[in-house]
Amino acid sequence: MRRRSLLDLDDLHGDELRALLDRARSFHEHPPSRDLLRGVCVVNLFFEASTRTFTSFAIAEERVGADVVALPPGSSSLGKGETIADTAITLAAMGVRVIVTRHPESGFPYRLAESFDGHVINAGDGRHAHPTQALLDLLTLQMEFGRIEGLRVALVGDILHSRVARSNILGLRALGADLTLVGPPTLLPAAMVREGVKIERDLDALLPAVDAVMLLRIQHERIVSAVLPSLSDYARGYRLDARRVATMQEHAIVMHPGPYNRGVELTDDVFAYRGWRYAEQVGYGVPIRMAVLDFLVNGSAA
Ligand code: NCD
Repeated sequence: MRRRSLLDLDDLHGDELRALLDRARSFHEHPPSRDLLRGVCVVNLFFEASTRTFTSFAIAEERVGADVVALPPGSSSLGKGETIADTAITLAAMGVRVIVTRHPESGFPYRLAESFDGHVINAGDGRHAHPTQALLDLLTLQMEFGRIEGLRVALVGDILHSRVARSNILGLRALGADLTLVGPPTLLPAAMVREGVKIERDLDALLPAVDAVMLLRIQHERIVSAVLPSLSDYARGYRLDARRVATMQEHAIVMHPGPYNRGVELTDDVFAYRGWRYAEQVGYGVPIRMAVLDFLVNGSAA
């Protein structure tokens, strides 16, 4: 039987998602034993820049006692023409049990998982998926509100090119959030509407009603044609600033997966907003990744 991997959030049933969030919450409150993954070898295979995701995986792996090897971009033999399948066979032959991978190509972790006799964790593939980011976003909502079902959540900005958005859409729908996608047609085509997801072009009309706003960075590196209106048009319609946050409810929060671009999707005023939760999100990245490692390696029992 193929070992379980986490390639996107549709790999998990709703009950598993909830159990994983509970486990991460308990790891946040009471750090787990360093024996949890004692003797388990984990390789971090990143082909794309990463600050938050790479570091928090590394910290999480150390905290659960795994043996950790980091292969930075350019240092694997994939650049010498070795196939993904042969890389997988090679790493498994050394006893590597888990590969955490980030790659600019959508689908890369899926191809790796097909040939690797171990667990693959997708740390971001192209514009496709970023399941552990979505999990830590879900944990942030769960910790803030004690529930996700029925929460009114707005995902704002460059939905089309965002792997964070795509994984969050899966997770938020599975857990019953009331989700609205917000952005201009160039970054949020009407074709992205599906069951359980609404589209809104007017951010100002929606803000007073939401419990949480998730801002997204404009993914310039993934925008192939001139789809962006102009940055000043974008800012006028969608940038969060002091005036806009003042229209939000008392309890509402603002989230951002990072890296944020000051002056583009938000102004510096937002950092002073009482509901700005970026630091909390980053902090939850460690317990959520410990929980994912434990779930895959040691099994799904809560
Ligand atoms: C995101 C990513 O790399 O997908 N960042 C992250 O992992 N926290 C989002 C982005 O690059 O905009």
